[in-house]
Amino acid sequence: MTERSCLSIVLAAGEGTRMKSATPKVLHQVAGLPMVAHVVKAAQGAGGGDLALVIGFGADALRAAAQSFAPKADIFVQEQRLGTAHAVLSAREAIARGYDDILVMFGDTPLVEADALSAAREGLAQGAGVVVMGFRTENPSGYGRLIEKDGALAAIREDKDCSEAEKRITLCNSGLMAISGKHALALLDQVGNDNAKGEYYLTDIVALARKAGLKVVATEASFENALGINNRAELAAAEAIWQARTRRAMMLSGVTLIAPETVFFSHDTEIAPETIIEPNVYFGPGVKIEAGAKIHAFCHLEGATIGPKADVGPFARLRPGADLREKAKVGNFCEVKKATVEEGAKVNHLTYIGDARVGAGANIGAGTITCNYDGYSKFFTDIGAGAFIGSNSSLVAPISIGERAYVASGSVITENVPDDSLAFGRARQKTLPERARQLREMRASAAKK
Ligand code: UD1
Ligand code: CA
Repeated sequence: MTERSCLSIVLAAGEGTRMKSATPKVLHQVAGLPMVAHVVKAAQGAGGGDLALVIGFGADALRAAAQSFAPKADIFVQEQRLGTAHAVLSAREAIARGYDDILVMFGDTPLVEADALSAAREGLAQGAGVVVMGFRTENPSGYGRLIEKDGALAAIREDKDCSEAEKRITLCNSGLMAISGKHALALLDQVGNDNAKGEYYLTDIVALARKAGLKVVATEASFENALGINNRAELAAAEAIWQARTRRAMMLSGVTLIAPETVFFSHDTEIAPETIIEPNVYFGPGVKIEAGAKIHAFCHLEGATIGPKADVGPFARLRPGADLREKAKVGNFCEVKKATVEEGAKVNHLTYIGDARVGAGANIGAGTITCNYDGYSKFFTDIGAGAFIGSNSSLVAPISIGERAYVASGSVITENVPDDSLAFGRARQKTLPERARQLREMRASAAKK
């Protein structure tokens, strides 16, 4: 769009008592990311420039969390919550630096989209002093109403201050606003608190801008953009909308979802085209999947990288640091943590691979366990390329199994196995001919007495 400078102000001072939580409301998560971080992401997507975060309740927790989702933000503490205009003015120092555009957003509207923010900024670029993002709803109770006069936006009236006629208006204020940086402080400083709630309303700047002869316009966005979350039921509703949006975007980008409504993504899930995700798969944060991979039903994945044409599940759990290379296979009831499974290696059934490398083409038999933990420290298991681990073996780390080595089934391996060697780590079998029959006869005659 433009080279216009921009300051994005995110209001996040509220306590959110209806969440019934010690965690500040805006830190509750949608798709594994705090709501306020979704808002920040949307602002960044709209070229939102510098960021100011207005916090109050739970300031310490918010400050700490902001380190990861908005490390460069200016943080302002609003000591007393006197209204949305008062909250914006907490960032006075940032506004005074002089920006072309000021974007104001609420931290509890996680579904706001970059496009809607861009549209509001576009209004400023075309000469408006204030742009209000409106939305329509058949149930407008609680929202500020957009009051239009002669086809132009004249004022915003808060629900509690509306007349009966005004209450029937269905065009509402989402809360999101774009304000010309040149006029922002002058307008905000004129806002008073003579209203039903005794608060300094940001919405009052609409009428004030009109009085000052500035152009004021309303854009219309979808309801989701305006969806403010107040309790955990609404949080779940936002999650559902986010998931539905993401499933659709994934499918349109070339990912097959057989039963999309049963697959749950994280905010940062990356999946290349030509992949197939079967039903009931859950993505925690940090998963990346390359082209041609297949994820079978009922897998739980987090912090994992899945290489091209790899095959996972059904019923597999990949934990942080799982790194599956091209055509690797991790099958049913297997868990992989902090381990590389190299090209074409197979970990097919009932196995735990943790703190390990499984070399290319190696075959790990059913029930194999890397014993990586002694109750104090974690140790590494290195399995060479082409090795074959017989079923039900325990590899006691630190340990290394050489290339093309062979471990007999049922072994407990505590010493390194060199390349091309065969290792038995189990008792030798002893067979006593006819002994079973004798035992049976002895027991039967003892029982008769
Ligand atoms: C606000 C709007 C209303 C709009 C609605 C959309 C105003 C006056 N009203 O009403 O027109 O339809 O949002 O959801 O702007 N906050 C602070 N400090 C404060 C007050 C609020 O940080 O002193 C934050 C809150 O944490 C919240 C946001 O600003 O994230 C909105 O405040 P809230 O009190 O919920 O406003 P509403 O009454 O919902
Ligand atoms: Ca609200």
